[in-house]
Amino acid sequence: MTILGIDRHLDDTDLARTLAVDVRAGLTATPKTLPPKYFYDARGSQLFEQITRVPEYYPTRAERAILTAHADEIALLAGADTLVELGSGSSEKTHLLLGGMRTAGALRRYVPVDVSESALNGAVKELDADYPELDIHGVVADIEHHLHLLPRRGRRLVAFLGGTIGNLFPSERHRFLADVRASLRPGDTLVLGTDLVKDPRRLVAAYDDAAGITAEFNRNVLHVINRSLGADFLPETFDHVATWDATNEWIEMRLRAGSDHVVRIAELGVTVEFANGEEIRTEISAKFRPDTVASELALAGFAVRSWWTDPDGDFALTLATPTEPT
Ligand code: AVJ
Repeated sequence: MTILGIDRHLDDTDLARTLAVDVRAGLTATPKTLPPKYFYDARGSQLFEQITRVPEYYPTRAERAILTAHADEIALLAGADTLVELGSGSSEKTHLLLGGMRTAGALRRYVPVDVSESALNGAVKELDADYPELDIHGVVADIEHHLHLLPRRGRRLVAFLGGTIGNLFPSERHRFLADVRASLRPGDTLVLGTDLVKDPRRLVAAYDDAAGITAEFNRNVLHVINRSLGADFLPETFDHVATWDATNEWIEMRLRAGSDHVVRIAELGVTVEFANGEEIRTEISAKFRPDTVASELALAGFAVRSWWTDPDGDFALTLATPTEPT
C-alpha cells in the first residue's frame, strides 16, 4: 500500500465555523433543529459503531449481507480501478468492495473522503497489510460542498453507503446526487445504499434500541455543542424521541427537554429558552421504495444498471451510471 497523500479541503477552523453558524440558526429557529453531521466526534463515532451491533439496528447487517453476496458482481459491472468512498465510515464494507475489485482484476486506487482526518487515518490503517497493490489518496472534505474537488484519475466507482443519503432532505438529496453526477465521467459508476420502507414498528425500534445506545448517540450532539461552543446543556435531562413520519416516509429523531430552562451558549453569546417538553429535531433518516430510488437517480442524471436487496428486503444497493446529457 502506498499513501499518495491527503488533499485537505477543510480544516478544524472551517468545521468550528460551520458548527457555530448551524447551531445558531438551528437553535434560534422554531421548531428548533440541529444537523445530524455533528453527532460524529470521537465518542459519537464510537456510539454509532455500537448502534450497528444492537439487535434492533438492521441496516448495517443488511447492507453487509448484500455486499458479501454481490461485491464481485458490483465490481465486474463497474469495471473500475479506483474506489471513491464518500463518508468512509466502516472499513469492513470497504474491504468487501475492494476485494471484489481485486477479483475483477483492476484495483489500483482507494480514495476515502471524510470530514474527519482521524476517520481517514483509521480507514487507511485497517487496510494496510491486506492491499499491497493499493494507492491511497485521502481527501478531507465536506461531501455536500466539495465533490467538484475529487481526484479525477482512473475509472471510478463512487460508493455512498450506509443509507446516509436518507439524512438529507429531498431537495438536498437532489442537489447532492446532481453534484455527484456532475463530478463523474462516462465509465464511472455510483453505488448507493438506501434503507427501505418497512413495518414502522421495526423502523422505530431501530432508532430507539432497548439498550439506549441510540438515545446516548442522540444526546451526544449536546455534548459536542457544550465542548465546542462553551454551552451548558445538561444532556441527560433531554429525552430521546424517535418517530415515524408516514407522510414523508422518514424516521425523525428529536431531543425533548425535561423542564422549562435556559441554556447559555457562551461562544455564540446566545441564550436559548426551552419549555418543558419542547423538542429539537436532530436527524431525519428517510426510507425509500425501489421506484423512488430509481426516479430520484433519473432526475439527477443517472440510469440504474442493477440493484440488490438483502434476503429480508430491508435495504438496497443500487448501481447507477451517468446518462448522457441531453
Ligand atoms: C449512519 C446516517 C445511516 O440514519 O440510520 C443511526 C445514523 N442515526 N441511528 C442512520 C443513525 C440513528 C444512520 N446513518
